[in-house]
Amino acid sequence: MAFDLVFFGGTGDLTWRKLMPALFQAWRHGSLPLGGRILAVARDDRDDAGYRAWLKERLAEADSAKRPSDDEFEQFSRAIHYLRMDLSQPADYARLTAWLAERQADTVVMYLATSPHLFPQICEQLGAAGLNHERVRVVLEKPLGHDLASAQEINRVVRSVFSERQALRIDHYLGKPAVQNLMALRFGNVLFEPLWRRERVANIQITLAESLGVGTRGDFYNRTGALRDMIQNHALQLLTMMAMEPPSSADADAIRDEKLKVLRSLKPFDAVSVARDVVRGQYRAGNVMGQAVRGYQEEDKVPPGSHTETFVAIKCEVQNWRWAGVPFYLRTGKRLAQRHSEIVVNFHPTPHPIFPGSHAPNRLVIKLQPEDGLELHLLAARGTERSVFNPEGLEALSPVSLDLDFDKAFPTERVGAYERMLLDAIAGRLNLFVRSDEQEQAWRWVEPVLQAWKHDPSGVKTYTAGTWGPPAASALVARDGFAWAEEA
Ligand code: BG6
Repeated sequence: MAFDLVFFGGTGDLTWRKLMPALFQAWRHGSLPLGGRILAVARDDRDDAGYRAWLKERLAEADSAKRPSDDEFEQFSRAIHYLRMDLSQPADYARLTAWLAERQADTVVMYLATSPHLFPQICEQLGAAGLNHERVRVVLEKPLGHDLASAQEINRVVRSVFSERQALRIDHYLGKPAVQNLMALRFGNVLFEPLWRRERVANIQITLAESLGVGTRGDFYNRTGALRDMIQNHALQLLTMMAMEPPSSADADAIRDEKLKVLRSLKPFDAVSVARDVVRGQYRAGNVMGQAVRGYQEEDKVPPGSHTETFVAIKCEVQNWRWAGVPFYLRTGKRLAQRHSEIVVNFHPTPHPIFPGSHAPNRLVIKLQPEDGLELHLLAARGTERSVFNPEGLEALSPVSLDLDFDKAFPTERVGAYERMLLDAIAGRLNLFVRSDEQEQAWRWVEPVLQAWKHDPSGVKTYTAGTWGPPAASALVARDGFAWAEEA
């Protein structure tokens, strides 16, 4: 399949940190269709050779196992080209058209890895240049907008140029192998489905914890904050996959229809419930895994006195027959104790305990990263009770867990998130991309939180870097008689 893949934002962080390494891995594994061309587009004055040399230096920063050798880079980079463009200039789109017209690729993927405020302009210009024909797809990187209105405006322009099936909104979490396994766990097995409901589940916790700070992205992050950066997209997408009804098929729209229903069932926030059920925090200086780190306010390009949240914990509810009354707790933050993302399903305790001692309820832990696996926490008898004074001969049960490590179960290297998403974009597989109505519904749900915060900018609590966030996040869960997994 001859494809042309155009990266707008060709010298940006996303392109060299994630997209090019992912393409290189696809090439190394032989899954990148032969005969493809990759075009990086940016403002700087460079030629193909200059761009390749620049990219080679950047890729040298990759993990050693993922770094191309000189020989590999030489071969891989033959497909990479560079075009200088001013994205506001129609004449530059004409040059892009001419480059694409050098041959008739089966598929042209326009990957917008730029700031989202440029999306409408780029889409309009692509349309005006006739680069929206049926062989073209456009991939839109998050953040898709800043709030509901800006997301709707982006979608309005995108829809005026491309059909829904041509517009691929990316959420790289959906490309993670662990998230694929979540679908497999729920819809490829019968074991858990009867338990996957309010009668059996006490609460569900989704934690996306990062040990890193905001790094060099202080200005972007300060305008964005954790709610927009992680909750509106990644955390809500995971929630939909946990809560959705079984889709009728693996068809992209069958899956996305079910996810949309979940988003529509989320209990809406008002000012009172925001104050009660949402905790926001900002890290101050501390120690993360033995390393002293500075506070958010001291990070580069962060204005002093910033109220931007680097941590959010939310209690929410999916209002339908399956989930009514079951709290879903979402939590994300920078500079937390460790990089650790997981979903925990806490089941109800046994209705009538007959064994002595503790009755820790069963728990299913879906580990997303850095490990990728499942843990099922059960209670078992050790079989060591010998006392003749124990009338029933029953011993206190001990916690045990069944552990599944996917890296051990499937030792061959698995497809990374961006690699999968890029290959899907080239192949036109839409399952893992977010439809515009899902994305707008997610904004609709977070909007009252943003509004409430706007009227109370000082409500951000501090937490020490290297901890699990402000104590109020523990209180949020404790209030319902539960605890976060690491505190249980
Ligand atoms: C991105 C956010 O979407 O996801 C970043 O913008 C965050 O702030 C990143 O660090 C986390 O992704 P991952 O794959 O490293 O968990």
